[in-house]
Amino acid sequence: MGKEVICLFIIGICIIKSSCELDIITDTSAPSNGTDWIVNYADIKTKFSVRSADEPEEDLCYLVPGMKDTATHCGFNTTLPTFVIIHGWSLAGLLESWISKLVAALFERVPNANVIVVDWLNRAQDHYHNSVANTRMVGKDVAMFLNWLEVDLNYDLVNLHLLGYSLGAHVAGIAGNLTNNKVKRITGMDPAGPHFEYAEHLYRLSPDDAKFVDVLHTYTRGSPDLSIGIQRPVGHVDIYPNGGTAQPGCSFQHTLHIIKDSGLHNLDQYLKCPHERSVHLFIDSLLNTQQQSVAYRCNTNDAFNRGLCLSCRKNRCNYMGYDVNKIRTTKSSRMYLKTGASMPFKVFHYQMKFHVFNQQYSSLNEQPVTVSLYGTHGEKEDIKLVLSNMTSNTTISFLLTTDVNLGELLRIKLQWDRDSYFYFLYSNKFLVRRMRVKAGETQSKVIFKATIDGELAPLVQGGQPVTFTKSKGDQSSRRHERRHRLKMHGSFFKHGLNDAIEGTSTS
Ligand SMILES: *[C@@H]1O[C@H](CO)[C@@H](O)[C@H](O)[C@H]1NC(C)=O
Ligand SMILES: *[C@@H]1O[C@H](CO)[C@@H](O)[C@H](O)[C@H]1NC(C)=O
Ligand SMILES: *[C@@H]1O[C@H](CO)[C@@H](O)[C@H](O)[C@H]1NC(C)=O
Ligand SMILES: *[C@@H]1O[C@H](CO)[C@@H](O)[C@H](O)[C@H]1NC(C)=O
Ligand SMILES: *[C@@H]1O[C@H](CO)[C@@H](O)[C@H](O)[C@H]1NC(C)=O
Repeated sequence: MGKEVICLFIIGICIIKSSCELDIITDTSAPSNGTDWIVNYADIKTKFSVRSADEPEEDLCYLVPGMKDTATHCGFNTTLPTFVIIHGWSLAGLLESWISKLVAALFERVPNANVIVVDWLNRAQDHYHNSVANTRMVGKDVAMFLNWLEVDLNYDLVNLHLLGYSLGAHVAGIAGNLTNNKVKRITGMDPAGPHFEYAEHLYRLSPDDAKFVDVLHTYTRGSPDLSIGIQRPVGHVDIYPNGGTAQPGCSFQHTLHIIKDSGLHNLDQYLKCPHERSVHLFIDSLLNTQQQSVAYRCNTNDAFNRGLCLSCRKNRCNYMGYDVNKIRTTKSSRMYLKTGASMPFKVFHYQMKFHVFNQQYSSLNEQPVTVSLYGTHGEKEDIKLVLSNMTSNTTISFLLTTDVNLGELLRIKLQWDRDSYFYFLYSNKFLVRRMRVKAGETQSKVIFKATIDGELAPLVQGGQPVTFTKSKGDQSSRRHERRHRLKMHGSFFKHGLNDAIEGTSTS
């Protein structure tokens, strides 16, 4: 069975890859000038299904541009906020199961809303490159539909939020560029990469397509333009969960495990796991409002993985998903965070920093360590990780995450594991004084001491763990820390508040 799976997996990749080598079909029917094309509703081949909270999976009623009575008939309420969901490429020719989950989650969060599902299956069920070319026609259809809502139904597009997945994200972008007035927001959920990585603004999602564009990148693996998800930032806020390349719970081993339990049907579901994760992260943000994930701006994923980017100063951090603060920086900003393998995806981020002293020079690579954290609300033991470089008299910084909220940290245990069977011949040793910990979620900075009576503690390869305890009595630094934290919270949550006010005024 293993072989079969590998073959299917490879075929899946081949379909995507081979199609990428073909030339893109140019759409000659693109509008050349004026608005004369907009009123020709007969050309619209895309369908607009109004979904309901009671039956989020059913297509019960379609809005037909040009036919005003369909709006009344379908219960489209022009005073409510509207969400428009746009699917991606479809091999099966079916609406995928994530759509009804997203519909249900939107209604759960915003009960008084219109939720519309754009059905362009007729043009999405094709060779990938044809579907890519079709995004322009579908984008035009969606733009005509939105202009119709605005002109004929008096619907204000500042209340409208487009959510597009994969190719659908680019459809949303193309549509947003063609409407008379900008829509409030476009959320791109892992926008497709092949053919779009180097495409012009006009033909892909870009920041000018809505008042605010936020993007989740979850499957950007491989060389650019062959990667399933687009690698470049294309919005005002671009978030790369887990580096954006692969997602926890979507590994090949994990896939094999599921197949062993539930068989080969739905194999494509497993293959799409990291791509579709973008949608589930967004759904998570709608449903689990008490467990909002925070992403942090960082220049590179490597720097993020060393824990160097957990700052919230000057809008460097933001909520991921529905509650994102609508910050528009002039240059594109990549943001990173770690997540768990299943919903709720939130994890807590810590930067751990300590100095290793040694009389002799020694430099070691890829050293395994085990860390345990103890806090006021809980504990997390035996977190395994690898320190890439331990060199005498240098500071080591690394990122640690936990899926549980530990509250205020009180104690840390650090053990240097053996990396070979020959550890008994010679054990390396460093001396340590303290550990500095910065918590991303609370922005607190705390120092933990390993010293006993002023002596540095030995960190021995294959030896006993070193215990770091919260340093007491350092009131001045504590006060400073508290003030600092308040300041950070102030700037971070002020925006949240402004947004909330803005949100209520527009809905
Ligand atoms: C649009 O272009 C056509 C030719 O393609 C021309 O006849 C027409 O006058 C133009 N309309 C506007 C509004 O510029
Ligand atoms: C539209 O929604 C508003 C606010 O929920 C409600 O007061 C109004 O009755 C609704 N209109 C229709 C036609 O259902
Ligand atoms: C459409 O996109 C182009 C290219 O990015 C941009 O110059 C133009 O302003 C956009 N138009 C609208 C209405 O957003
Ligand atoms: C590390 O620093 C200590 C002083 O803090 C010094 O005595 C020692 O020689 C240094 N080790 C190396 C390898 O430079
Ligand atoms: C480890 O870090 C030290 C000091 O920063 C550096 O000199 C050394 O080249 C690094 N080793 C490796 C293998 O990267």
